[in-house]
Amino acid sequence: MCGIVGYIGNKNSVPILIEGLKRLEYRGYDSAGIGVINGKIGSFVKSKGKVSVLEEKSAADGIEAKIGIGHTRWATHGEPNEINAHPHFNEEKSLFLIHNGIIENYNVLKTGLKKLGYKFLSETDSEVLVHLIDSYMKKDHGLFQAVRLSLNQVEGTYGIAVISTKEPNKIIVAKKGSPLVIGIGDDENFIASDVNALIAHTSQVVYMEDDEIAEINADSFRAKSIHDKDIEKEIHDVEMNLDEITKGGYPHFMLKEIMEQPEAVRNSLRGRLLLDEGIARLGGLQGFADRLANSKRIIITACGTSWHAALVGEYMLEQFAGIPVEVEYASEFRYRNPIINKDDALLFISQSGETADTLAALKEAKRRGALVLGICNAVGSSIARESHAGVYTHAGPEIGVASTKAFTTQLSVLALITLLIARKKHVSIVDGKEIIKEMQQIPEKIEKILQMNDEIEKIAENFVDSTNFLYLGRGYNFPVALEGALKLKEISYIHAEGYPAAEMKHGPIALIDENMPVVFIAPTDSVYDKVISNIEEVKARKGIIIGIASENDNKIDSLVDYSIKIPDTIRMLMPILTVIPLQLLAYHVAVKKGLNVDQPRNLAKSVTVE
Ligand code: AGP
Repeated sequence: MCGIVGYIGNKNSVPILIEGLKRLEYRGYDSAGIGVINGKIGSFVKSKGKVSVLEEKSAADGIEAKIGIGHTRWATHGEPNEINAHPHFNEEKSLFLIHNGIIENYNVLKTGLKKLGYKFLSETDSEVLVHLIDSYMKKDHGLFQAVRLSLNQVEGTYGIAVISTKEPNKIIVAKKGSPLVIGIGDDENFIASDVNALIAHTSQVVYMEDDEIAEINADSFRAKSIHDKDIEKEIHDVEMNLDEITKGGYPHFMLKEIMEQPEAVRNSLRGRLLLDEGIARLGGLQGFADRLANSKRIIITACGTSWHAALVGEYMLEQFAGIPVEVEYASEFRYRNPIINKDDALLFISQSGETADTLAALKEAKRRGALVLGICNAVGSSIARESHAGVYTHAGPEIGVASTKAFTTQLSVLALITLLIARKKHVSIVDGKEIIKEMQQIPEKIEKILQMNDEIEKIAENFVDSTNFLYLGRGYNFPVALEGALKLKEISYIHAEGYPAAEMKHGPIALIDENMPVVFIAPTDSVYDKVISNIEEVKARKGIIIGIASENDNKIDSLVDYSIKIPDTIRMLMPILTVIPLQLLAYHVAVKKGLNVDQPRNLAKSVTVE
């Protein structure tokens, strides 16, 4: 989704802004722009398409300035073009604004401003804000105060940055519902919507909270609430290095992140498995673990891949912890009238920790007095900060739009939480130790599957021209079927559906003919024979079958067209293994189709609008 960067200091801001915008490209965008101030002169450059086009244009214009703001736009109101790209500006071109989020009452504000004579150039909701601020400045308010007063009139969400030639030594930022971080340097400061855009310059960050506004100068900053109360902000150290957000020799972030999974899962488990006691230790849940274990119901809420992880979590928790679990799409949960009882615990899963629907669902649950726990990857993200307690997945930055290591580390954390609760309830120390031993072997087993990359690439060659795919699995592997289908459709644009294998007979079987590839996730587990019957049914109708099977399974070969054999583990952990070949299959099909794997069309890494 939209990205924000900004710089104030003694260097030329333009290359810093461009580099920052490039680091935000992974979030998904369709146009970009920068606005800068050089003394009393303000200028801007905008372009449709990639940041590289913006880079060429700003080099051609030869602009240089020590203060600047930059933006990548993902269209919500108005098509992607230069006029709608940010920054937006006032008539005198003395005031520049970039905005993430949605101004919900923009029509009312626009009507009022038009009556005052303001003319609008774009179709965006954001432009209204720059004219509103301008109207306050014309009433002799300083920039900070003009922004603050304007925001008091706004309904909706925003992360904004504003600069003005009238007060050329500051950037004003404010946040509500859209992430915004200040990076603290030596006689220079930065802003960004995502720490990834800052870490090349500083590891010291200040997280803005909702309803806060700040003035940033080259050597200082101050913050207030938009209701005019002074606020002391804490400076945090981010533990992230540049290698983590570069491709490190891989052609795509997605492949790098698939290959990083053994290490990512190791990091998720590190220090959290106590073999002697057969239990998990999760510092982030300290003080809340008993409450969680004693809850009468757990509701897990998430979107997309994180929602698929939640479904696996449902199987885990119900099997081992004996607590009823419901899994909810965050977007549905927030707009119903969900019944939340005092003995319920709510778990919110999000890689980015910024997904608007998940965050809103969390706030609604919190407002109703529920215990809200987060499972997030991005440290310091909004969901992590809003939760009462939680567990980080420690997957490291995930840049590819298609989630891979986020999913397997979410499953690892869900397994840890399950073990923790299960041991507090009825699971014995012996069984706890068995689970731990299996968990410890998972990274190595992933490594083994990754060694099949070439084999999977060859299989992928056969499906470049496919137009449909079916993914089928049962039990723990039903959510994996959904995830495999999502991976394929989001990066290869091939229509794919995931189903519980036995549901095939209730409809999807009608689709099967000699052109329909069907992926069966069929490890040798308690439902293996049933899945084999489903495979027979597809074979009888000439479907093309790809089987993800256990390495010792020789029976399946005669039934399927392609088999991918993977190591076994206990049922609850199997999804961490079975999903890996599906990630690689989707990746190779998309690459062979010549598609932009890391930034698929229309998609954003972190969906920060509804
Ligand atoms: C996964 O490949 C998708 N890009 C998407 O479904 C994603 O999982 C979803 O938007 C949720 O994101 P979050 O985990 O950051 O909340």
